[in-house]
Amino acid sequence: MSEGAQKKQEKPRRFQAIRGTRDLLPPDTALWNHVDQTAREVFARFGYGEIRPPIFEATELFARGVGGETDIVSKEMYTFVDRIEKLADPAKLADYGTFIEQAEKLIQTEELPDITGNRLALRRMKDIWDGVKAFMSGEAIPSEAERAVVEELYRMIILKDSMELGQRISLRPEATASVCRAYIEHNMQQWPQPVKLYYIGPMFRRERPQKGRYRQFYQIGAEVLEVVRPDAAKDAGKELAKDAAVDAEVIEMLMTFFERIGLQGTELSVNSIGHAADNCRRGYVAKLREELQKVKEQLGADSQRRIETNPLRVLDSKLEHEQAIIAKLPHIADHLCDECKAHYAELKRQLGLRGVAYKENWRLVRGLDYYMRTTFEITARGLGSQDAVCGGGRYDGLVELLGGPPTKGIGFAIGEDRVILSLQEQKSPQAATLRVGLDVYVTWMGENAYTTALHAAKTLRGAGFRVDMPASELKFGKALERASKLNARFALILGDNEVQSGEWTVKNLADGSQQKLTEAALLEYLRRL
Ligand code: HAM
Repeated sequence: MSEGAQKKQEKPRRFQAIRGTRDLLPPDTALWNHVDQTAREVFARFGYGEIRPPIFEATELFARGVGGETDIVSKEMYTFVDRIEKLADPAKLADYGTFIEQAEKLIQTEELPDITGNRLALRRMKDIWDGVKAFMSGEAIPSEAERAVVEELYRMIILKDSMELGQRISLRPEATASVCRAYIEHNMQQWPQPVKLYYIGPMFRRERPQKGRYRQFYQIGAEVLEVVRPDAAKDAGKELAKDAAVDAEVIEMLMTFFERIGLQGTELSVNSIGHAADNCRRGYVAKLREELQKVKEQLGADSQRRIETNPLRVLDSKLEHEQAIIAKLPHIADHLCDECKAHYAELKRQLGLRGVAYKENWRLVRGLDYYMRTTFEITARGLGSQDAVCGGGRYDGLVELLGGPPTKGIGFAIGEDRVILSLQEQKSPQAATLRVGLDVYVTWMGENAYTTALHAAKTLRGAGFRVDMPASELKFGKALERASKLNARFALILGDNEVQSGEWTVKNLADGSQQKLTEAALLEYLRRL
């Protein structure tokens, strides 16, 4: 190999963030923190507490919670097998017998997945193992047979590697299913109801990355869960009105948040998708399917497929040529049962009472299976095609589906990446003020001044100011250059003169003015600004 080629080979690989993920960096992170903080403050005022569920959960939770047929679960999850520790990899030939025995036991105790792949692999491995055992106990080894055994062993390794030797887990694509799992796990039905929780954190979906769409993205979400009282059915009308009031308060909180962070041009759309009964959504879906069959030939491949799998999702289509066809389809509002109709009417009345502006969108069906009755979405400006900054809805029954008691639920998730993009795009003044870096850059020359500088930095930081200083001596000119690059408002200049006189030179970096102040006067001066 030539020297050049060798050098090239030795050069360590430069890593880049994985496609669809990114680093959030200062000064942008100040805006992210501001948005997080605003959510925390607003949600606390509405009586919500924070939940921090884990980033990964059993794949089965999302499959059951979000829906196995949804895009999120069927195509977009990051799933891997969490290798079980009890089951050691066979290190030598003789270990295979133990491996097979242990794996069989673990399948019985459900510690390993009882799936066809695992069962078939084990059965085949057992056959091979029996053959190998017989062979090992024999005496002379004819070379032909030896080769055959090696081949069989190789097959056994392949079979072992094909097994799922642990539980399947997934990075969370959303957090509603996790919050419901936590509600059940911690018996939250015994807490004062309703339980109001919020979360902030990363979610993961293997979508095609584009502006406003990432594979690791951040959500700020909230959920309200309430166990169904045994006597609830007695006064169904009152329950419906109460649910609608809860829905409206959730939406009011959301709009308060968007107002507080100063996001302009938000639009709230609401809809009701009824509940799963023949005289309600199921009846509507059947009707929709029938109508879609009539126009099938004019639809794209995705919509054609959805006529069978999930006709409601056809309403979500963004394809230009399908819009006129969809506009003529029957509306769900005309097929809701009396309860769902009453709930929807009450929701709209409640939004009115709270002064929340909204528009109705009969096509708002959402891409997750758990919704019933209320669905809503908020769009914002400056985001192109990915303009939904929040989505949510009611999901009574989800907790029960996950093995808990009959429970009502409603919630939303805000796409924080998109909110930040939109704020930056609208050049929000708040976003600009958050860019300010330091309050004071402390510069020093000489050993005596260094001691004073350390003392000054400590005092100023203690008083709550953002302070930085060079770790080694810099000429004042260089230090001032660095101070302005760091966006500092003031530079504190400390040399022998300042140390002796006890009066420190303070330079205002915005207007260049300079003055000499004692430590106490400096603190006073900075506090007044
Ligand atoms: P979702 O509509 O799938 O709902 O997501 C909510 C929001 O997350 C979207 O409106 C969008 O702003 C943001 N988002 C989704 N995917 C991405 C992505 N790949 N990149 C950037 N942002 C994204 C849910 O997740 C439900 N769990 C909401 C909910 C809570 N419903 C009831 N409770």
